[in-house]
Amino acid sequence: MSTVAGSNGMVEGRCPLTGATGVRPLPIGGPASLEERARAFFSLLNRERPELVDRARWEEVQADIRRYGHYEHRWEELEFGARVAWRNSVRCVGRAMWEQLEVVDARAVTTRREVADACVRHISEATNGGRVRPRVTIFPAAQGRREWRIWNYQLVRYAGHEGAGGVVTGDPAEAAFTRFCRELGWAPDGEGGAWDVLPLAVGGLDGATEWFPVPREAVLEVPMVHPDFEWFAGLGQRWYAVPFVSNMELEMGGIRYTAAPFNGWYMGTEIGSRNFGDRHRLNLAPRVAEAMGLDVRHESTLWRDRALVELNRAVLHSFKEAGVRIIDHHSVAELHVRFEEAERAAGREVSGDWSWLVPPLSGSASPLWGRSYHPVEYSPNFVPPTAAFPRSAGGLGAPQPGGAVQPGGVVQLGGVVAGAP
Ligand code: ARG
Repeated sequence: MSTVAGSNGMVEGRCPLTGATGVRPLPIGGPASLEERARAFFSLLNRERPELVDRARWEEVQADIRRYGHYEHRWEELEFGARVAWRNSVRCVGRAMWEQLEVVDARAVTTRREVADACVRHISEATNGGRVRPRVTIFPAAQGRREWRIWNYQLVRYAGHEGAGGVVTGDPAEAAFTRFCRELGWAPDGEGGAWDVLPLAVGGLDGATEWFPVPREAVLEVPMVHPDFEWFAGLGQRWYAVPFVSNMELEMGGIRYTAAPFNGWYMGTEIGSRNFGDRHRLNLAPRVAEAMGLDVRHESTLWRDRALVELNRAVLHSFKEAGVRIIDHHSVAELHVRFEEAERAAGREVSGDWSWLVPPLSGSASPLWGRSYHPVEYSPNFVPPTAAFPRSAGGLGAPQPGGAVQPGGVVQLGGVVAGAP
């Protein structure tokens, strides 16, 4: 090999496979052609897993790009690329597990229903009764502007029903998406409570979006109890067991998988501090502080901090009681430190987004607090969606579309997929 591994896993010299010179990981975004992106990907593959690629394959890819403006990943390439995408995720503090990512090839789907069915299978199998398995399900890649979409932020999420006076029942973060689902023809069973699981909104190649219910039995949930405070259960809080992020695109080698839902398992603070604690989310800190008998008239009593700690204790305790995998913010930070060491040992520099890697609770107690990270995002990676569901003006208390509500009702959404590059 005429190559020398330098810092950042970059290779000085020539890639013996693709002939690329000065090969370095390619940052996401930026102006690179499909062929340049493919070249960077196959150089990376050849450097890390040379047994998976040979000259004939690289020539085939180049020929396909020239002939069709497109190429298809082989299974081994897909699996490698998805795992490295996780490794390259600068905001993910749990990526030490990147090599364990289970990759499901769902590129053969042809209908929205098949996409929804594969999503439900993903939810059940990755939840695995609480012994959560990190997984990604990869649907067909975008070809030009024809692309599959899952408009949901996560496969499982609680609706936010807007009522009169600006009150949201459920999760306010989902108010706009809930409105979108109602416009598609979905309605909650009953009158719209705090824990209605939203349907899947699947966009197909024809630009139409269709909704599908997520079967309740596929969704594992954890009722919230506290190790010391008996009254805590009476707050009637719960959360779903597994976060399945479904609106990010998986980019590898210049190919965009616009529907590629993935999951790891929860870090406690995501729920305890943010979903429960944020003022614009469930905002539970004042209720917990009051139940604890704290003096909430003065910030200097640190009632907020004390309530947040107890919310976080409740989350970790409840998941443990329910037998659902979760990790606390201290332990996961230790894993990230070890991940950084392993990466350096492999000749790769670790980039990161400090503001995401440091936990929202007791940040300065994290071993990551005193470190600094270069935030560059390399390809392959999970990238923000290049299109989003249309947000109607809607508004609080807006009349809801009535009429027959049918799973599988198709709504043509003009311009939904326009704007994608
Ligand atoms: N923070 C998001 C939530 O609370 C989940 C993001 C992904 N998290 C994860 N542990 N993989 O739902």
